[in-house]
Amino acid sequence: MTATTTILKSDTGAAYDVAAIRADFPALSLEINGHPLAFLDSGASAQKPAQVLERMDQAYRTEYANVHRGAYTLSQLATDNYENARTTVAKFMNAKTPDEIIFTRNVTAAINLVAYSYGREFLQAGDEIIISHMEHHANIVPWQLLRDAIGIEIKVAPIDDAGNFLLDEFKSLLSAKTKFVAVTQISNVLGTIVPIKEVVRLAHEAGAHVLIDGAQGIVHEGVDVQDLDAEFYAFTGHKLYGPSGIGVLWGKLDLLNKMPPYQGGGDMIENVTFEKTTYRDAPARFEAGTPPIIEAVGLASAIDYVSNIGLTNIAAHEQGLLAYATDELLKIDGLQIIGQADNKAGIISFELDGAHPHDVGTIIDSKGVAVRAGHHCAQPLMDRYGVAATARASFGMYNNTGDVDQLVGALNYVKEIFG
Ligand code: ALA
Repeated sequence: MTATTTILKSDTGAAYDVAAIRADFPALSLEINGHPLAFLDSGASAQKPAQVLERMDQAYRTEYANVHRGAYTLSQLATDNYENARTTVAKFMNAKTPDEIIFTRNVTAAINLVAYSYGREFLQAGDEIIISHMEHHANIVPWQLLRDAIGIEIKVAPIDDAGNFLLDEFKSLLSAKTKFVAVTQISNVLGTIVPIKEVVRLAHEAGAHVLIDGAQGIVHEGVDVQDLDAEFYAFTGHKLYGPSGIGVLWGKLDLLNKMPPYQGGGDMIENVTFEKTTYRDAPARFEAGTPPIIEAVGLASAIDYVSNIGLTNIAAHEQGLLAYATDELLKIDGLQIIGQADNKAGIISFELDGAHPHDVGTIIDSKGVAVRAGHHCAQPLMDRYGVAATARASFGMYNNTGDVDQLVGALNYVKEIFG
């Protein structure tokens, strides 16, 4: 099947040439099981453009040394690259200063850092925190570890059957006991876009600090952290068309500097004796050990790539695909979409009568279609819908209507097999 080209006019009036974008991504010309790859699992991890791969290759070949440690030219070059990447990230999020950007391994590491360091410094037994029913395990389990260690209470903000975040119910959970709120910007399962600005406003009115899990949100919506005004925001490089092994924790600088280190080691100290160690300010305080040097270069390159196309243009394209795919999928008899919130990003979880999601995933792979099947690291959400698993198609900037058509054709093949 030949992938068709979708050219949607973006809201800035610029043409969105998905064929040209696809040509930048080497993986998209793979054949899988004799079929062109229809890659619909960018929610788990996105493919990488040649520009990012080449930039990382060049940095490994000609600009590589450890950072912050050497007086020689190559180390200085690597250090400049690493710190320039921090500046690129800061601008992309509209952070006040690059010092607010901490490089971590991924979102999971960023949230664990906050739960451990902020949690043990600022929260105590009896304090309440609120998460939502559609959190990824990465924004549930670190808080449970903290609860088990110090005795906080975790409240869960509900959603309705369509997957909408219920602001009024959230508001009714807030009280003088609420000290922290940790919610996702976009559900990785339902695609629901959470009204995070309202969440932050209401949480602040109650005197609570807020962390936003931006793993999906940074890709489909982006963020302006000064406008949002949360205390913490976390995202990961590999979903943003950059490398794995690097994530970002943004935090308000005064707060970061009041938090104790999470991990100890090289580069995060001012002075060490056997009796006493003093620590540097953020971000160094939270970056113990050799950091993800080339991954930072790759992340900056991915941000440049995305910024050149424009997040607004990408979002408009993905909204077009979401509408097309929703219509086409609902034409399949026996297919139900789980998650039909009023405000959604390009993520569609579904079930097909009589076929286990894992079988769906395996069979459509034989037709070259890649989707994720499972609980999507959100088991409490699966319980909410009374299912153990779903299949999930998630869109990236490079998907087109041809990918959707290939998915629909493959699902009809599943139906033939299961009768
Ligand atoms: N959090 C990633 C997903 O939703 C891995 O698939």
